[in-house]
Amino acid sequence: MTTAEIEVEPLTSALGAEIRGIDLSEALSNTELNAIHQAFLENQVIFFRDQNITPEQHLGFARKFGELDIHPFAAGLDDYPEIMPVVKEAEDTVSINFGGTWHSDVTFYEKPALGSVLYALDVPQSGGDTLFSNMYLAYETLSDGLRETLDGMQAVHNASRSFGLNSRTTLRSREGGDVSMRVRADEEAEKEVVHPVIRTHPETGRKLLFVNYNFTQRFVGWTKEESEPLLTYLWDHAARPEFTCRFRWRKGSIAFWDNRCTQHLALNDYHGARREMHRVTICGDKPY
Ligand code: SIN
Repeated sequence: MTTAEIEVEPLTSALGAEIRGIDLSEALSNTELNAIHQAFLENQVIFFRDQNITPEQHLGFARKFGELDIHPFAAGLDDYPEIMPVVKEAEDTVSINFGGTWHSDVTFYEKPALGSVLYALDVPQSGGDTLFSNMYLAYETLSDGLRETLDGMQAVHNASRSFGLNSRTTLRSREGGDVSMRVRADEEAEKEVVHPVIRTHPETGRKLLFVNYNFTQRFVGWTKEESEPLLTYLWDHAARPEFTCRFRWRKGSIAFWDNRCTQHLALNDYHGARREMHRVTICGDKPY
């Protein structure tokens, strides 16, 4: 399909599209920006190939869509704190990698991210793909009964599983993962926020499933033990292969995902090779 001046080629029937005819190192016209925005909303995650951008151009592109976030637990580049390097060094063979379980970014915020722009600087020969899943489909394929039940429910989110004192970060550190990234574990990760279990996308108006393994802890008014079976069901459901796409990176590839209606997972299947990505995250709004 061609809209305005860009070509949009869907990757799977579930989500994801490759955008052609755009050079992100050049100033974009309003027509191009609108076409990119439209493709982003329609496909949930869009991909660009063969880009060669500076940190300023990376930040400038992301800023077209909103203010930028600085991650509270993972350090940014010294000169560009809004650019978070997502790195795994060749000598890092820890079984847990950054972003290696299904999640939406920073849902432990009152206002979780709108999206992220991830730029590949160094990639393994093979492996290190990223999977994305469509949370509209996850919602729409639940039974009427479960959808009705979930529609009125809220869930507690925090960052304890990923960045708490007994988290994946602590374990990674203990096993030598600090060689790759500066990520800190902190008790401030226990801070809780509440979001609806079913969220309405603020731009498309569509409903979607909004619980994720990394950050959702329990349902409001339910204990952790009571919440666990239903949450586990929903996490598994959200990751059904027919709701996903899988992106194979090349140096210079960029993924721009809508964090409000997708989840993603970075595969950790390339021990002995190096992978370096730069992530810029755009601030979002309060889910309703
Ligand atoms: C992330 O979760 O932001 C990392 C994604 C990736 O490295 O592919």
